Amino acid sequence: MKVTVFGIGYVGLVQAAVLAEVGHDVCCVDVDAQKVENLKNGLIPIYEPGLTPLVQSNYEAGRLLFTTDAKAAVEFGEIQFIAVGTPPDEDGSADLQYVQAVAKTIATYMQAPKIIIDKSTVPVGTGDKVEATVAAVLAERESTLEFHIVSNPEFLKEGAAVSDCMRPDRIVIGTENDHVKDVMTELYAPFNRNHDRIIFMDVRSAELTKYAANCMLATKISFMNEMANIAEMVGADIENVRNGIGSDERIGYHFIYPGCGYGGSCFPKDVQALVKTSEQIGYDSQILKAVEAVNAKQKTKLFELINRHFNGDVAGKTVALWGLSFKPKTDDMRESSSRVLMELLWAAGAKVQAFDPEAMEETQRIYGSRPDLNLMGTKEAALNGADMLVICTEWQSFRAPDFDMIKQQLAEPVIFDGRNLYDPQRMADRGFSYYAIGRGLSIKL
Ligand SMILES: NC(=O)c1ccc[n+]([C@@H]2O[C@H](COP(=O)([O-])OP(=O)(O)OC[C@H]3O[C@@H](n4cnc5c(N)ncnc54)[C@H](O)[C@@H]3O)[C@@H](O)[C@H]2O)c1
Repeated sequence: MKVTVFGIGYVGLVQAAVLAEVGHDVCCVDVDAQKVENLKNGLIPIYEPGLTPLVQSNYEAGRLLFTTDAKAAVEFGEIQFIAVGTPPDEDGSADLQYVQAVAKTIATYMQAPKIIIDKSTVPVGTGDKVEATVAAVLAERESTLEFHIVSNPEFLKEGAAVSDCMRPDRIVIGTENDHVKDVMTELYAPFNRNHDRIIFMDVRSAELTKYAANCMLATKISFMNEMANIAEMVGADIENVRNGIGSDERIGYHFIYPGCGYGGSCFPKDVQALVKTSEQIGYDSQILKAVEAVNAKQKTKLFELINRHFNGDVAGKTVALWGLSFKPKTDDMRESSSRVLMELLWAAGAKVQAFDPEAMEETQRIYGSRPDLNLMGTKEAALNGADMLVICTEWQSFRAPDFDMIKQQLAEPVIFDGRNLYDPQRMADRGFSYYAIGRGLSIKL
């Protein structure tokens, strides 16, 4: 089938590559000319395991095209995916300008019927807005061309995006049109062989399903962080509690890791956007507001622990920071906890020596060159002459480091671990002051 994808970001590029891999012809279009040029030269704009060979081989095979020519891209496919960003507006609601711009472009150039599939995460009702936009442009053109608007939210996880798209848990498709259902079934047939993963529903339910999924996951994390803060104060160990509740299959082990807060391009903005949607319809979404507030506070947790350990005197200290991306196996720094921490440390007069296996270029792009940030080539180099080690991201390579070496390099053997990677008792035996999340700091009741 011939498919066009608008927006070559995390979602658009991965989706395009896996569709090409199973044999569809995919034309990717983006307004970022540099990105398109780089992709034509085999340079992949993001780090995502398995993505580079997939893109390169399908590009070489001619099944994956990259262009900035929107007119040609609209002509290319009967199926037109919208996979552009929906960042938060100033008030937290989703900014739909990019989605609407694509809708206008499709309506302006289409010369045949189109199925327009919204893959971006958009508030409930956006399908109707996109439909109105396309209809208005077609009316101006005095065109009666047929089109359908479909909601097909994306559930991929950064860091596992390729395998998630190749083997999706579910394929949610919002449409009530039988022809569109047939086309979508054919499009996704290669991903649907083992058992039927397609769940058809109306457009609004599909739009809300995406928010409900992300808000549920964010809720689990904030709930667990709240438990961790309580555990810390009552002298319990949250890791024991985690095991204790995870074994209940109604709760499960997934997504109940305490830590220094969630980040990324999705959870923060999607929780905020659903709060905003609720406000607009006169509903007070108390759980979602609390999820957001708990997370914002949790992102300052490591700084509070550091500040307490150094009695409020962190000015002039050098912080070795391991992990910058919002989670492992990605270079995405959007809303990363490391950014909140670094900005608090800088405001307090500390210097950061950071290492991340993938996100150093992105950090450099965001912060530029500044005297209080040194990006180091290895995790060992980041320790050199530092006063403490802080861990923000649970990359595999941080899980079993050489603790003797860490001790030798640090001015003082103190570790602040935002991801609970180590055992507190063993760290004490090794002679470290070890601060983690929800473990150890007991206050007598
Ligand atoms: N990143 C994720 O893990 C993830 C997962 C599920 C859903 N989503 C949702 O998918 C959407 C896209 O997210 P992303 O992370 O891929 O975004 P992104 O910022 O990585 O990529 C968006 C791309 O769209 C391009 N673009 C903007 N306007 C355009 C236009 N008019 N025509 C063509 N291209 C245009 C941008 O240049 C950019 O390359 C968002 O709504 C997001 O919430 C993201």
